[in-house]
Parts: sequence; C-alpha cells; structure tokens
Amino acid sequence: MEKGFILWFTGLSGAGKTTISKVVAEKLRERGRKVEILDGDIVRENLSKGLTFSKEDRDINVRRIGFVAHLLSRNGVVAITAAISPYREIRNQIREMDENFIEVYINAPLAVCEKRDVKGLYARARAGEIKNFTGIDDPYEPPESPEIICCTDKETLEESVAHIISSLEKSGHLA
Ligand code: ADX
Repeated sequence: MEKGFILWFTGLSGAGKTTISKVVAEKLRERGRKVEILDGDIVRENLSKGLTFSKEDRDINVRRIGFVAHLLSRNGVVAITAAISPYREIRNQIREMDENFIEVYINAPLAVCEKRDVKGLYARARAGEIKNFTGIDDPYEPPESPEIICCTDKETLEESVAHIISSLEKSGHLA
C-alpha cells in the first residue's frame, strides 16, 4: 500500500484553498492515488453542521477535520484539507498526531482576498453584517514553518499546483 499523507491547506477565505485542492486532487488521482478532500464549506454542511465561527467552534471543526484526515492517511489515502484553520496551536496538534502531515500555506494578502471577494462575504463583514470574520475582526495565525507555500497573488493556479506536486516528489511522498 502506498503511504497516505495529509496535505493541510491553511489560509484566508478567498486565498485559493478550494480551487488549488481540486486541481491537486485531480493530479494525484491521475497518478493512481486515492484522494479525499475535506473542504471547510462542505464539512460545515455535514460533519460540523451547526457549528459557529467562535474560536471554540472553529477549534472543534478543525479537530474533526484533523481526526478524519488522520483516519484516511493511515489507510493509504491522501487527505487534502481546505479549511481556514486559523489557529496555529490546533494545526500543530494535528501535526503531532500524524507523522505524514504536510502544511501548505495558501498565502494571499488580505487586500487581495478582499478584492476577489468570491462569495461577497468580505463586503458583508466590512458592513458589520457578519461578525468574527477571519482577517477582518477575527485572527488568522500564519504557519511559522509550512512545508509548502503558495503565493496565489503572484503565481498562476498551474504554478501553485506544479509547486505542490514537485514538493511532494522531493519529499518522497510521491513517486
Ligand atoms: S475554520 O475557521 O473553521 O477553519 P472553515 O474553513 O470551516 O473555517 O469555514 C470558512 C468558510 O466559511 C469561509 O470560506 C466562508 O465561506 C464561510 N464563513 C462564514 N462566516 C465566516 C467567518 N465569520 N469567518 C470566516 N469564514 C466564514
């Protein structure tokens, strides 16, 4: 059985986590790997339905994602997670739990994410209609030493994906 691993994407809303995760998943499947994506928005409709965006609930959400990702990775699956996962301590706890944890910082400046405003949520947060919005009135703690960084304001989608795949080859996670 090929070794599973967790590809843990973290970054602001609108940084590109979901978009990149889908293309990376495709590339990995083309190579014959089994892949599951645990996307924040989808997890919150199912596994984490009813949770809020308080620190407490975000921590519960992110721990759940980490728990499931670990179950998958230890069975040879590549678990790609795409949640904001704003708190460093919780991400590091998941790193401790799984020896094949690869943190991918999907990095775009707040101003860029806000300008993209794909879901219109930044405008609503600025207008005070949504409270505790990450980057606006809620914290985001960037990783201190992520294995991989994608600067989505400077790279194309294809470049970010290629960077992730080549990093996985270099680290021996991909043949
Ligand atoms: S996390 O903090 O618990 O990791 P998660 O990735 O699941 O967050 O959910 C983030 C998504 O929920 C955002 O992309 C956005 O679409 C939506 N959302 C709604 N309210 C908020 C909020 N207050 N802060 C951040 N994202 C929010």
